[in-house]
Amino acid sequence: MQPLRFIREILILLAALQFAFVPATPQEQKQLRTQISGHDAILVGTAWYPEQWPESRWEEDLRLMEAANIKLVRIAEFSWSRMEPSEGHYDLDWLERAVAAAAKHHIVSVLGTPTATPPAWLTQKYPEILRVEPDGRRVTHGNRAHASATSPIYREYCRKISTEMAKRFGHNVDVAGWQIDNEYGYALMSYDDLTRKKFQDWLQNKYKTVENLNTLWTTAYWSETYDNWGEVPIPVGGHNPGLQLEWKRFVTDTWKDYQANQIAAIRKYAEPRQFITGNFMGFFDGFDHYVITEPLTFASWDDYVGSGHLDADFNGLSHDLTRGFKRENFWVMETQPGAVNWAGVNNFLNRGEVRAMAWQAVAHGADEVGYWQWRSALNGQEQYHGTLVGADGTPVPVYKEVSQLGREFSKVQEAFRGTTPQSEVALLYSYDSHWAIQFQKHNQKYDDIGLLKSYYRALRKLTQSVDVISAKSPLEGYKLVVAPSLNVLPRAVAEHLLNYVRSGGHLVLGPRSGLKDEHSELLAQRQPGYLADALGGRVEQFYALEKDFSVSGKWGSGQASIWAEQLSALNPDTQILMRFGKSNGWLDDQPAAITRSYGKGSIAYIGAILDEKLMKAAAEWMVKESGVAPAFISVPDSVEVSVRSGGDKRVFVLINFGQETQKVNLGKKMKLLLSDGQGESVELPPYGVEVFQAP
Ligand code: GLA
Repeated sequence: MQPLRFIREILILLAALQFAFVPATPQEQKQLRTQISGHDAILVGTAWYPEQWPESRWEEDLRLMEAANIKLVRIAEFSWSRMEPSEGHYDLDWLERAVAAAAKHHIVSVLGTPTATPPAWLTQKYPEILRVEPDGRRVTHGNRAHASATSPIYREYCRKISTEMAKRFGHNVDVAGWQIDNEYGYALMSYDDLTRKKFQDWLQNKYKTVENLNTLWTTAYWSETYDNWGEVPIPVGGHNPGLQLEWKRFVTDTWKDYQANQIAAIRKYAEPRQFITGNFMGFFDGFDHYVITEPLTFASWDDYVGSGHLDADFNGLSHDLTRGFKRENFWVMETQPGAVNWAGVNNFLNRGEVRAMAWQAVAHGADEVGYWQWRSALNGQEQYHGTLVGADGTPVPVYKEVSQLGREFSKVQEAFRGTTPQSEVALLYSYDSHWAIQFQKHNQKYDDIGLLKSYYRALRKLTQSVDVISAKSPLEGYKLVVAPSLNVLPRAVAEHLLNYVRSGGHLVLGPRSGLKDEHSELLAQRQPGYLADALGGRVEQFYALEKDFSVSGKWGSGQASIWAEQLSALNPDTQILMRFGKSNGWLDDQPAAITRSYGKGSIAYIGAILDEKLMKAAAEWMVKESGVAPAFISVPDSVEVSVRSGGDKRVFVLINFGQETQKVNLGKKMKLLLSDGQGESVELPPYGVEVFQAP
């Protein structure tokens, strides 16, 4: 090791040790909304469908759950036909008995509203509530998510069933909260006349005049000019990007209203202590999750691997994305007990992987991990899905692993009470930017989420905690803010970022940033648009690459692939960090990354997709420039370390995602919470986990 590098490592180590071991000033323990008062701070749960079984079986199921330390069930989210077997005849007695039976086994219930599955009597009576596909075909009854989210008739029935449930369970001490619908119908819309009219009204409300819309979407192009609102189509592909972007926002607002209808029904009768959440799907992009989660108590998500095995970086990123929706802890409402039934190859996770995956969720801020599902229905579409109990009603092998997890959660839960991950680094994500890039990828290989992941991976390794938040979120407190593809960058968001930089923040922008405004119009300045002056440089031209080009400079030498932007440094204080090598002639020797001090902070622009080694070096530079300290001393590459803190508490989670045993040095004697005892180092087998604290 070179002497200078060695000194730097020592300094980082000292800083880390100080950060890791000096307890924060004691504070009042925060009551988190994700931790149910009177219950363990972290919980294992499962999706249970009592309506699918004779009541005489419930006791045995609940006994087996209790034996596995499963402390929460989510129930009822598909049971409309059981709760309202015919119009207006509600039968909730069985559900009340199920909740009470669970409570006897110290299991708390979360109730799902059943609106993803309207019953046959309802779709028979009002066939118009069934969704119409983009090709004009109306879906038939017998699947799920078959109703139209825009239908006022359907919404009225949703309101009624939610109201009946809230009246009955809004004060039930054994009901902790509510999940609305299920995965919000995957954001599927009905392409019917009513929806089209609603979209047109929505546009009118936003744009006021058709002329205004025509101007902002440049409808002079291809004779798209509209004379009245009734002419505006629902985009079904290949439409104007302005129209497509607004449709996504309309879809978001539709599901937000759909959700609001049920929130209002529940809140009217439910005690405030009962939370209301929705179960989302990580990077699913059907709607803007920052908007939709805003009225919820907290966000939850359904964390499935599908085919293959856990990609710890991507899964960590998805957790952090979900935590960023509301910038607080979250739940994993559903996860796979080994295998799913809907992927290409529904392989089983390896022994130990299910447990490691659950601990990763907690490490990233989840306070509940729920297994979908307890036992599969004897018939129905999901007979092959992973469960904890087989068709014969006795445990399958993975039950043992989940029982171990349940025991561990119960044992160490107090250490996590009132704690959350806290980060000095934020990655910015924007649905508008993501959609705008998806509409016109320009290079089919351009993957903005993949790029986000490469920034995340490099930064998370160095800093051990990264927040993923909306570009509109408050940024105070972050030393480093990185926006890998902030394509849609309207003036207000640009001002927000500039204020952050002026007051001392370090901002790094990735390729394609600052190209468009909120209407998907190209900005009348070169990229990064409203940030170009502060950067003291701009994008002269972007290029979709057919092959990799070399790039070198401050971060070493390597390759740029897929996308490259020829930058220029226009201000004398703008520094050139990297240059392209010999490439397509245009890019030869041109700047690929530049930076400039601005206000009390700095702004940098990276106009290339860097290979892994360069990305790592770029991240090291970002961390150094912004003075970010890692949460803990460095750990082997395959090991993930995370910290959750709150008040004077600080609890660490180590997980080995590699296939080799790893010895991790803890720097000083620590209290090992899972394996009991103390140690200065731990040995982690593949999928091994340890939770520790300063003694
Ligand atoms: C989704 C749904 C569940 C179930 C699982 C299967 O997440 O919410 O009802 O279908 O997938 O993996």
